[in-house]
Amino acid sequence: MSEKKVIRIGILGFGTVGQGVWKQLTENASSLESILGVSLKPVRAAVQDLSKAREVELTTDQLTTDTQSIVDDPDIDVICELMGGVDLARELTLRAFANGKHVVTANKALICDHGQEIFEAAEKENVRYAFEASVAGGIPIIKVLRECLVANEFPLVYGILNGTSNYILTRMEQEGASFDEVLDDARSLGYVEADEALDLDGVDAAHKAVILAYLAHGVWFPIENMPIEGIRRISNEDLKAARELNCKIKLIGVIRRNFSNNHVSVGVHPALVPMDEIIARTDGVYNGVSITGTAVGTTVLTGRGAGQDPTASSVVGDLVDIVKTITGDAPPPKLLHVTPDQCSPATAQEVKGSFYLRLTVDDRPGQLAQVAEGLSDQEVSIATVSQALKECRNAASLILTTHETNEHSMALAMEKLEKLPGVLEAPVLFRMFDPNGKDNSQ
Ligand code: NAP
Ligand code: HSE
Repeated sequence: MSEKKVIRIGILGFGTVGQGVWKQLTENASSLESILGVSLKPVRAAVQDLSKAREVELTTDQLTTDTQSIVDDPDIDVICELMGGVDLARELTLRAFANGKHVVTANKALICDHGQEIFEAAEKENVRYAFEASVAGGIPIIKVLRECLVANEFPLVYGILNGTSNYILTRMEQEGASFDEVLDDARSLGYVEADEALDLDGVDAAHKAVILAYLAHGVWFPIENMPIEGIRRISNEDLKAARELNCKIKLIGVIRRNFSNNHVSVGVHPALVPMDEIIARTDGVYNGVSITGTAVGTTVLTGRGAGQDPTASSVVGDLVDIVKTITGDAPPPKLLHVTPDQCSPATAQEVKGSFYLRLTVDDRPGQLAQVAEGLSDQEVSIATVSQALKECRNAASLILTTHETNEHSMALAMEKLEKLPGVLEAPVLFRMFDPNGKDNSQ
């Protein structure tokens, strides 16, 4: 056991999460000390704007704009990087490692873009890089995947990885509220990223899916090549139609592995999830991750995926693990238990599934026949059709579901459908999630 009696913590970024971590360390100081045998003391934090009013007030000695002075401070043992962004966060993380400091982060964008480099640097400098808060906020999914389920390989990992979009979809679905109205509420609750497009366009969920895919399969999937869609095109009408199909529309990340060729598909998109899946019933700001392991079967974790306290809870959990490494009470866990480079990305032709399609069309004879022909040209077979008249227009909403097809054929069919005469708006297309889909079907 080390002689250290106090572990000093420096925090880069004193916003929603940074202040939450300070509060939890201060409020739980004595119980943490009794568990760990050392005290965990937050000492300094860095921000951009010193004049901003903050929920947790620090003295002028404790708050600085000089981020580098924190990572270079010889009295600080562990850094919490809670500022977000990529370039400066990367630079400061690598500098902290070089100074022999362990780092805890919630920064999924940074890990997605530079995980390989950062993990290697941490290993080289013999320090810990802990990132539980980077995926699914307060849910301990990283530890579960890396440590608890080490006896498994994973044919399917899927779930809701973005709390803000789930909060918006839930309120739209349950209250018939408008997208803009609910987005305003999400902002005031501190759920939304500074760059809102990260939440609304599926990019934040994609960052998290990349991290989970790496932990499950040992391969970094380039985000540029991933199919990523957000929630902006989901209407109250779609949410209602999904209910009639006994599904809910959720923004999900899906990671599937085909063990016959070790091809892995990773994607983020809105999908109709059958109501008997726990993920379909995971509402509000909650995230849910369903992991199917070869030994354990399916395990589902749900909980708060965003917000101050849940996210800070994961950061504090990581700090405790790091302290146990410092004091010699626990060895650092290896990042991966799988053989890296065994898997490679699946192609769009391999990724199979059924689709939900909504078209706004002129209400005239032959319209449905044209649509059916556009689909059958790509060998896409229709499973169900329903039509409703639009109010105040001589138009109809045509809602179709398809039998299983592949993503490539569906993309070709969509190119044709959107150019058909009488199709009045860009078609809306969502996947229908099948938890029992084989191979790479999504
Ligand atoms: P936030 O409220 O916007 O706080 C960011 C903090 O970083 C602010 O204090 C800001 O300073 C500071 N900062 C930003 N750029 C800086 C710079 N160049 N130099 C010095 N300080 C700088 O963000 P957050 O919600 O706490 O998120 C922090 C991280 O946690 C992000 O990586 C985010 O993706 C991740 N995360 C957040 C949540 C959540 O629910 N909020 C959940 C999971 C993960 P000022 O205060 O002066 O502007
Ligand atoms: N904006 C993110 C979300 C924060 O809504 O899930 C948690 O990563």
